[in-house]
Amino acid sequence: MTRLGILLSARGSNFVAIAHAIREGRLLDAEICIVLSNREDAAGLVAARRFGLPALAIPSRGRDRSEHDAEMIEQLRHHRVDVVCLAGYMRLLSPSFVKAFPGRILNIHPSLLPAFPGLEAPRQALEYGAKLTGCTVHFVDEELDRGVIVLQRVATVEDDDTAETLSARILEQEHIAYTDAIQRVISNEYEVSERRYRFKHKPGSDTR
Ligand code: GRF
Repeated sequence: MTRLGILLSARGSNFVAIAHAIREGRLLDAEICIVLSNREDAAGLVAARRFGLPALAIPSRGRDRSEHDAEMIEQLRHHRVDVVCLAGYMRLLSPSFVKAFPGRILNIHPSLLPAFPGLEAPRQALEYGAKLTGCTVHFVDEELDRGVIVLQRVATVEDDDTAETLSARILEQEHIAYTDAIQRVISNEYEVSERRYRFKHKPGSDTR
């Protein structure tokens, strides 16, 4: 069993999608051991408790990043977390956080990186006039939205889209992508060279 730790700041729909996938047997050999939020009012914490999962807020407002991160790391270690999944965690990780889980932190971003990093990616795609966008699951390194890409899924941009309708279409893809990416990463059946992640598809497995 790979022990997952989820970090979120708000709604938590990606977390809920992962939790459902585990419960329904679509994500195998993984369990969520702790859900952490830097905000006490995160709806994702309420959802986590409904799933019967340990959920804890460690408020970050006004706190030194490395001090806050040290507390987060302590909790993740206490719950013996193997893989950290950032799911709408709206806070940069300090280098010491990244080093504490080398190659074991994933993030999901609502664009096809390297296009539209940072905040409000669907709005950025819309304003740029992109016709295709989507989502990216990537490993986290010291730079924002820059780590090695595990997988991406595409969403179309429609003429009458608003940032809200486009975000919703991307989110549907996110919920599929994160589960698939976690399954690939915890299988350990992959290699990374330079920026290229390659999943070694096992015959008989339907995870590509
Ligand atoms: C998602 O769009 C994710 O890509 C981004 O933050 C949003 C979180 O949504 N990093 P949710 O909290 O998982 O519903």
